Order: sequence, then C-alpha cells, then structure tokens
Amino acid sequence: MTVVPDDIKLCCAAAYSTAAARFLLGESFHPGGAALTARLGAELQVGPGATVVDVASGPGTSALELARECGCDVVGVDLSADSVAAATEAAEAAGYGDRVRFTVGDAEALPFDDASMDGALCECALCTFPDKGTAAAEIARVLRPGARLALSDMTADTERLPLELKSLHAWVACIADARPLAELAALIGRAGFTVERVERHDEALERLLERVDARLSLAGVVTESATAVAAGRDVGSAARDAVAAGTLGYGVVVARRV
Ligand SMILES: C[S@@+](CC[C@H](N)C(=O)[O-])C[C@H]1O[C@@H](n2cnc3c(N)ncnc32)[C@H](O)[C@@H]1O
Repeated sequence: MTVVPDDIKLCCAAAYSTAAARFLLGESFHPGGAALTARLGAELQVGPGATVVDVASGPGTSALELARECGCDVVGVDLSADSVAAATEAAEAAGYGDRVRFTVGDAEALPFDDASMDGALCECALCTFPDKGTAAAEIARVLRPGARLALSDMTADTERLPLELKSLHAWVACIADARPLAELAALIGRAGFTVERVERHDEALERLLERVDARLSLAGVVTESATAVAAGRDVGSAARDAVAAGTLGYGVVVARRV
C-alpha cells in the first residue's frame, strides 16, 4: 500500500470525529476504556498543580478522567478541530473547563514548549501516526526530565497480518501500521525515555471488537449503507481472528523521561 502521510492523518482525524465513531466505540476510543485510562493515570504519578498532555485526545473522555482521578490539569491535543470542539464542550459541561482544555495540533509537531509538561498520556493513537519516531521524540521534548509517558496502543506482528488488515481502512482502524509491543518499547526508549513497564491487554481489545461487531450488526438492520457495514464487519472478523492467533493485540508502555 502506498501511503501519503498527510492523507492518512486527515483521514484518521475525520473518522474519529464522527457520530458513527462514538456509536461504535463508546465514550473512550481505545480498548480498556476509562478503567485502563485510570490505571495509566496512576502510573504518571502526578497530582494537583501538575499539567499532563493527552496526545491525540479524541473525544476528551480520558483527559477528563485524568483530571478527576489525579487532580492534575490536562491539555489535550488532537488533529481534528471537530474533536477538539466536542471535547472542550464536554469539559465545560462537566465543570472542568478551568482545568481541562484542548487544542488543535499534530502529534508530530506538538504546539508546546520544551519541558513544559509533567506527564503525557497517549492512547490508541501512535499506531495511526505515519512518523512514530518523530511523535515519540516530540512527546519527549515537551516533558520535563523525570516526567512519565503512559502509552497504550494496538500491537501487531506486522509480517503475519492478513491482507484485509493492511488496507487504508485498517490503518484508520488502528491496525495496519500497528507494531509489535517490543518494537514500541524500543522506539520509546530511543526517543529519550527509560522504559519502566510493558504489559499486554489483548483481552481488552477482544472486548472492544465484540462491542463494535454488535453495534455494526445493529446498524446493519437500520442503515442504507449495508455494504459499508458488511465491509466493517469483515475487517472486524479478520481482526478477531488475528487476536485469537496472537497476531494482533493491545499493549501498555510506561516510560520515564531521561
Ligand atoms: C483511536 S482515536 C483515540 C482517541 C483518544 N486517545 C482515546 O483513546 O479516546 C485516535 C485519535 O488520534 C487523532 N489523531 C490521528 N492522527 C493525529 C495526529 N497526527 N496528531 C494528533 N492527533 C491525531 C485522531 O483525530 C483521533 O482522535
């Protein structure tokens, strides 16, 4: 597949700002939902007065969760202006408008000063960035020394992914350019971090894929785009097979900025 980085980025940003994404995925756009976000928040070891960046903040659910659980301020950054607007509205509606804000920006060129952040969260998004090394280096740049990155992401044994999981749709669905967990940890280590923890959470991905299939099946009954729903279910079915085969999964990397 020939990949044009800017097209991929815009495609991902557009796909995750739709009502369809919310319907299929729920409030959090990653396996493990708010419970896994709370776990990652605890790993950041931050509290009131600290500022955490949520890279690719999507609907803003995780940023709000961090502010509630850790008491920190959060700034979310996402490429989609629509997602940033919706997340800002959600933070204001929840009464967190003074501590949780969102801004439009590219993870590969973060709009923040060097060493300006006390922690970084990045959930189910590195897999969609065309230049993962640059994004990891950008996260390292904006963190103060000693601050932590808590990252969760899709993982894949790239060589063994079936053809239907290597399409543009599969890239947008966080699959086609996912990397093995060990490669993710190594990439983060090269960007200026000491890796402290690596965990597998494949069962969380299984649960999310089941939810998405149930929602697509429901959508298939009422929609006029039956072909698109069937195509989505085919990709989902191949993804579930890949999880069962150990080719696809979900993982966590926690790392400390050197
Ligand atoms: C699967 S969603 C995850 C959203 C959120 N982290 C969560 O777990 O709920 C991926 C998000 O990455 C954002 N995104 C994709 N490419 C990006 C980039 N280059 N810079 C910033 N955000 C990006 C998309 O707009 C989308 O909101």
